[in-house]
Amino acid sequence: MKKPAPLTTALFVTCALLLTACGGGTPTNTNEKTNTATNASTTTSTSVAIPIGIALAQTSNVALLGQEGFVGAKMAEKYFNDRGGINGTPIKLVMQDTGGDEAGAINAFQTLINKDKVVAIVGPTLSQQAFSADPIADRAKVPVMGASNTAKGIPEIGEYVSRVSAPVSIVAPNSVKAALKLNPQIKKVAVFYAQNDAFNKSETEIFQQTVKDQKLELVTVQKFQTTDTDFQAPATNALNLKPDLIIISGLAADGGNLVRQLRELGYKGIIVGGNGFNTPNIFSVCKALCDGVLVAQAYSPEYPGPINVAFRKAYVDEYKKEPAQFTAQSFAAVQVYVEALQALDKKTKISTMPLDKLRTELNKQRVIGKYETPLGDLSFTPGRDLIQKQFYVSQLKVDKDGNNGKFFLIK
Ligand code: ALA
Repeated sequence: MKKPAPLTTALFVTCALLLTACGGGTPTNTNEKTNTATNASTTTSTSVAIPIGIALAQTSNVALLGQEGFVGAKMAEKYFNDRGGINGTPIKLVMQDTGGDEAGAINAFQTLINKDKVVAIVGPTLSQQAFSADPIADRAKVPVMGASNTAKGIPEIGEYVSRVSAPVSIVAPNSVKAALKLNPQIKKVAVFYAQNDAFNKSETEIFQQTVKDQKLELVTVQKFQTTDTDFQAPATNALNLKPDLIIISGLAADGGNLVRQLRELGYKGIIVGGNGFNTPNIFSVCKALCDGVLVAQAYSPEYPGPINVAFRKAYVDEYKKEPAQFTAQSFAAVQVYVEALQALDKKTKISTMPLDKLRTELNKQRVIGKYETPLGDLSFTPGRDLIQKQFYVSQLKVDKDGNNGKFFLIK
C-alpha cells in the first residue's frame, strides 16, 4: 500500500493546485486582515499553515447563531497566530457554510475532509445537523468539536466527536431557578418546544423535569416547528390556562416570534428561553417585546480569566458590544485544537506526520488536556463530553430604541 504523504507535502500540493483551499472556502464573514496564514501557506511548504475546518451556518435562519461562531473562530485564529501558532507554524481556518439543514452540514463536512484536507473540524451549528454530519467525520477519523451542540448524546455519536458546549442537562435548569427567585409565587408553567429539532426536544425534557423537580404544575406542553412564524393557536391554547411562567425551547427566529406573539396576546409573566435564544440577534426578531426574557448561559463576558479579558477586549474594540456565548464557545473550540496541536508537536513534529495519523493523534490529545479558555477552565470526561464549572443566567434588556439590547447577568 502507498504510504500517505506527510502533512506538509499534502498541503503544499493542495495549496498550489487549489488556492481557495488555503484561502478559506466560502468566507463571507472572513476578515482578511487577520489572515496571517495565507501567505505563509502559499509560499513555502516548511511554514505551511495547519488547516482547521469551520463548518457553521452562515446562511438561513440558523445563521442567527452560526455567524457568531464564525467570528469567535476567526478571533481565535488571529489570537493564537499572533502568539506563534503551533510552535511557530500558523493555523489557517477553512470556512464552509453549512446552511441550516442536515444536507448542508454533510456537504460542508465532506468538502472539509476530502477537498480541504483539514486536520479537524469545529461545528456544525445545530445538534440536529451534528447527528447527520458528525458520523461522516467519525467514519473518516477526523476530530469534530461541537461549539454550540447542546443536545444529549452528541459525544456518543462516535470516538472522534467531542464538544465545548455544555449539555442542556447542566445549563437549562439554572434559568428556571432564576425565574423562581424573581417570582417565588410561580405555580403554573406552560412549556413550548420545537418538535422538529433534536436539541430542542432534548432541552424540553430537561425543562419539563426541572418543572417537576421544583414541584410546579406543568399545565400544558405546546409543540411547534422551527420554520413556524404564526403561533396564534398554540399561544392562545396556553394562555387560556393562565400560566405564570412560560418556557420556550426553540431557535432564535421562531423562538423570538413566539415571544413577540405571547406578549401581543397579553401575557405578562416571566418567559424563559432556551439555548437557541442565546444570541443578541434575538433582538432583531422580538425587538422591544424581548425585554425581560431569562436565558441560561455557559459564558459570561465578566469572567476574570486572563484569556477572557483579552478576548473580551478584542471583541469590544472591534464590535462595540459584549461578546456572545456562541462566539466564546467557537473561540474555545479552536483554542482546544491549537493547544492540543502544540502539545502533540512537542512530542513528535507534526509536520512529519501523515494527515491521517495527525488527525488520530489530535483526537486523542485534545481530550486529555486542560484548557484555560474564555469560558473558564475546561477539560473532558473519558466519554469526551465537556467538564465546565461556571454557568450563568442573563436577562434580556432592550435599549430605548427598541431594536437592540443587552444580556444582563443576574447575580
Ligand atoms: N444549542 C443548539 C443546538 O444544539 C444550537 O442545536
